[in-house]
Order: sequence, then C-alpha cells, then structure tokens
Amino acid sequence: MTRRLRLGVNIDHVATIRNARGGRHPDPVRAAHLAASAGADGITAHLREDRRHIADRDIERLSNEIALPLNFEMAATEEMVAIALRHRPHAACIVPERREERTTEGGLDVAGNVATLKPLVGRLVEAGIRVSMFVEADPRQLDAARAVGAPVVELHTGAYCDAEGAGRDREFARIIAAAGHAEAIGLECHAGHGLSYDTVKPVAAIATIAELNIGHFLVGEAIFIGFEASIRHMRALMDEARGR
Ligand code: PXP
Repeated sequence: MTRRLRLGVNIDHVATIRNARGGRHPDPVRAAHLAASAGADGITAHLREDRRHIADRDIERLSNEIALPLNFEMAATEEMVAIALRHRPHAACIVPERREERTTEGGLDVAGNVATLKPLVGRLVEAGIRVSMFVEADPRQLDAARAVGAPVVELHTGAYCDAEGAGRDREFARIIAAAGHAEAIGLECHAGHGLSYDTVKPVAAIATIAELNIGHFLVGEAIFIGFEASIRHMRALMDEARGR
C-alpha cells in the first residue's frame, strides 16, 4: 500500500545561525510558520543537553504558537522527560546524545538499554506522546524498540547519505530491510538524517516509510533559494518518488 509520506521539517539549524550572534534573528518559530505554509506536515526540534541550537524558550513557543504537530527530539534523560511531560508534544523521538559530537552520530542502542528505556518510554506514552526511537537500520534494534513499548522507529539514514557507490547501495539495502522488518513487527517507520535532494528519492520510494525528518540540508539550501522554496522542492521530490 502506498501511504502519504509526511515531511517533518527540522528547524534546529535556524537556531544555530541565530545563536552564532545571540539575539533573536533568525527566529526558529518564524521558520516553523514558513515550513507550514510550504507544505511541511510537522516541525521537529532537538533540545540538546548543551542547548547549542534550540533553547527551552523555543520549545515553549513552538508548543504554543504553531498549529503543526511538534516532534520533540530528546535524549533519554530525566531532565528531557520532565520537559516533554510539561509541554506534551505530539511526538517525542529518543536520540542518543554525546556532548562532543557535531551531530547525532549513529542510532540509539535500544537493545543494550531495554531496562532503562522501557519505563521512560512508558511514561511518555502514558502522557499521550507518540514515541519513536532513532535507531540504525538493524532488526535487533527494531525488536528492542518494540520491546520497550515505542510505537514508532526512525531509521538513521546518515550512513546511507555519507556512503558512495556500492557502499551506498549496501546501506540502502539495510534501510529497505529494516523498513520491511518494522512493518512486519507492527512499528510505524520514519527515516532521517543527512537527506538532501540527491539522496531523498530512493528512501521516499519505500512505501512503508510514513515520515521523513529533514533539517540541515533545507536550512542550508534556504541560503540560495529561500526556506519555503527549499521545502517545496523537497516535498515535490518526495511526491515524485511516491508516484503522486
Ligand atoms: N532525525 C533525527 C532523529 C535527527 O536527530 C536529525 C538531526 O537532528 C534529523 C532527523 C535531521 O537530520 P538532518 O538535519 O541531517 O536533515
């Protein structure tokens, strides 16, 4: 079955540019409004422990001021759970976080942390938040995501996007297999990280993937063609890949 593919626009790096100078410009909430008018289905924002881009106030404003569903990316910490429970976003994506990394490198090791993740996921699910686990395209991690009670997995597409030639084909085969496995065990499947105009179409063509979350490329491309235009073009490529 070909389902509509949702686009979640990640606005973290609008905040990165703002924070380079302090102050309020460019405003991630304004970017979220623009994303909505350009055809985004949701807004994604990652409140990192070190607040390097999105700030607490951004999450508060995104929760109060935008009509689109908010996907709150968070590390599996007590601090972040408390913030999620306070704002009750539509969704929460649990990601690994290491202070020294430049971006989210690799997926969460759900399989190795079932005992700690299960109660944490349970509290979020109980609050009505749709929880996804950001994992590598590895069936073991998907089985663990199901075991901790998450209804959704997001497959990390970074290795696929970074690879070239036969390496990229291998990574893509892993993504297809993982998307199939997610469907087989009853998990909704999302994907994201590093996607660009060049890499989005094969992933968007996987019929069982329900949502892509894309940020850095769209914000970078906005410098050249504008934020709305970059989102509209990405949306068009996704629709083309789905044969819509
Ligand atoms: N999905 C998740 C879980 C992420 O952590 C990120 C990066 O913050 C993205 C998607 C978007 O990645 P990118 O900014 O490379 O498009």
